[in-house]
Formats: sequence, structure tokens, C-alpha cells
Amino acid sequence: MTNLATAQPQAVLAFDYLAEGYDDLFTKSLIGRAQRDVVWDVLNHTFRSGDYVLELNCGTGEDAMFLARNGVSVAAFDASEQMIRIASQRLRAEAPNALVRFSQLPIELIHEIRTERQFDGAFSNFSGLNCVADLNQTAEDLATLMLPGAPFVVCLSTRFCISEMIWFLLRGKLRTAFRRCSGRTAAKVGEFVVDVYYPTLRQVRKSFSPAFAMRSCVGIGVTVPPSYLEPWIRKHPKLLNIMRAIDRVLSNCRGFRVLGDHMLLRFERVQR
Ligand SMILES: C[S@@+](CC[C@H](N)C(=O)[O-])C[C@H]1O[C@@H](n2cnc3c(N)ncnc32)[C@H](O)[C@@H]1O
Repeated sequence: MTNLATAQPQAVLAFDYLAEGYDDLFTKSLIGRAQRDVVWDVLNHTFRSGDYVLELNCGTGEDAMFLARNGVSVAAFDASEQMIRIASQRLRAEAPNALVRFSQLPIELIHEIRTERQFDGAFSNFSGLNCVADLNQTAEDLATLMLPGAPFVVCLSTRFCISEMIWFLLRGKLRTAFRRCSGRTAAKVGEFVVDVYYPTLRQVRKSFSPAFAMRSCVGIGVTVPPSYLEPWIRKHPKLLNIMRAIDRVLSNCRGFRVLGDHMLLRFERVQR
């Protein structure tokens, strides 16, 4: 069991509750796949075979397994005991000799990680950092674990998601349409209430400065919608292909890259 006093206790319980169905709900969904493909493209260009990489909020281990297939060694952590159980089961079944280790640890405690050498890079995929109240502290802790020049790739939910706004406005759900806009919302997951933070690009950059300098930002799911629209997109598979094609153009445009479901930032650990 993790020390629940350090991470949000309700968030940990919520993800424990979601863990068993997470892959069916998100990892294997058409939308989840489409969004993750873009992240994998960036991971592929960032990490090389032989690198030793830290993964925060690894969930069921989809990305760690992907990197391991490419020869990357991964130390992967998540606050949820159930997510780690599933990831570890998967590792034993699919690639017992892969250089991956899954451990339960919240982001708020990464300063406790003891490692024989500093990491060549780090990443956090799909909104784990949106559950963390103090990103300044995360940046400070992360900086001590990483080699100078090492990349940090992070995928966060955005503050303003246009497809979400349009979807809910058309249904007359004003409050849901603008739920992210205040920068913080209480999301209900089963019987649990999770505080979710939606920092802007500028706020994330500021939190990670001066130890990290931002090198790139791409939009993830600019027109490809959030994964809760999976039942709708399954009825319109051709539309998803069109959206993927549009995203290939818009995800790099300054005006659009922070208006999708997620934004993917690539930082570099700089010498102070
Ligand atoms: C949407 S899932 C993403 C999982 C995985 N990275 C992926 O790409 O599928 C968010 C993950 O963040 C984890 N998480 C939430 N708050 C956390 C915290 N404070 N410390 C570590 N992990 C946390 C959850 O347990 C969950 O596995």
C-alpha cells in the first residue's frame, strides 16, 4: 500500500477502482490508440536503445512495454496498487526478461527513489500530472534524478478542449462544456471525487523552469476527441481517420496545439 497521505487518497482509490477495466476503456479504444500513436512517435524520436528512463504514473504499463521492445530500460512508477499489479502481471506474461520494473510510488514521493545512476530521460503520459497539486515540487524532485541534457516528455490534459466544449454545448450542458476552464475541477469516478488540475502551457513551463527548458509542444487529440466519445466514434470510423489526418497538421500549429484533449511537452534538463 502506498502512503495515501502524500498523493490524493481519493485519486489513488479512483484509479484502483478503474484499473481492471482501464485497458478496455482507454488503451485498446480507437481514440486512445489514435492519441497514443502520436505520443509514441515522439517517444521514439526521444529515447534510444540502451537509455535508462524513469516513467511516472505508468498505469497498466503500455508505454513501458513499448519502450522495452525498443531496447529502453524503464523504471516505472504509479500511485495505484492495482495499476501496478496489472502492469507487473503483464510484464511476467509478455516479456519476463525485459528491462522494466514496475513499482508503486506516487509522484509526490519520487525524491525517495534510490537509483545507482541518474536517468537518461523521463516521461509521464496521459494526465498523471493533472492529479498533482504542486508541479514546482515535482520539477525540483525530478531534476535531481536526471542527467543534465536529459529529456522529459509529459502529456497533460489541456485547460481548453474545443471538441469537448462543442460536444457539450450542443447538448446544452454548459457547466460540463467549460469544466476545465477554471483550472481545477472535482471529477467523480465511481464513489470517489478526484481533484483534477488543468494548468496552462505557460504555467507548466513556469513550474518546470529553471531546471527544465521547454523544447517542443504538440497537440494530442486536437480534433480527435476525448476518449469518452468512443461509442460515438465507433459509429463513424472514417471520421476518426479524417480527424487523425487533420491532427497531423494542426498539432504543430501554435494556435491549435493547446486546444485539444492533451498537450505533449518535451523539456530538457538544463544545468543551473
Ligand atoms: C489516465 S492514467 C494514464 C496511465 C498511463 N500513463 C497511460 O498512458 O495509459 C493516469 C495514471 O496516473 C496515476 N496517478 C494519478 N495520480 C498519481 C500520483 N499522484 N502519483 C502517481 N501516479 C498517479 C493513476 O494511478 C493512473 O494510472
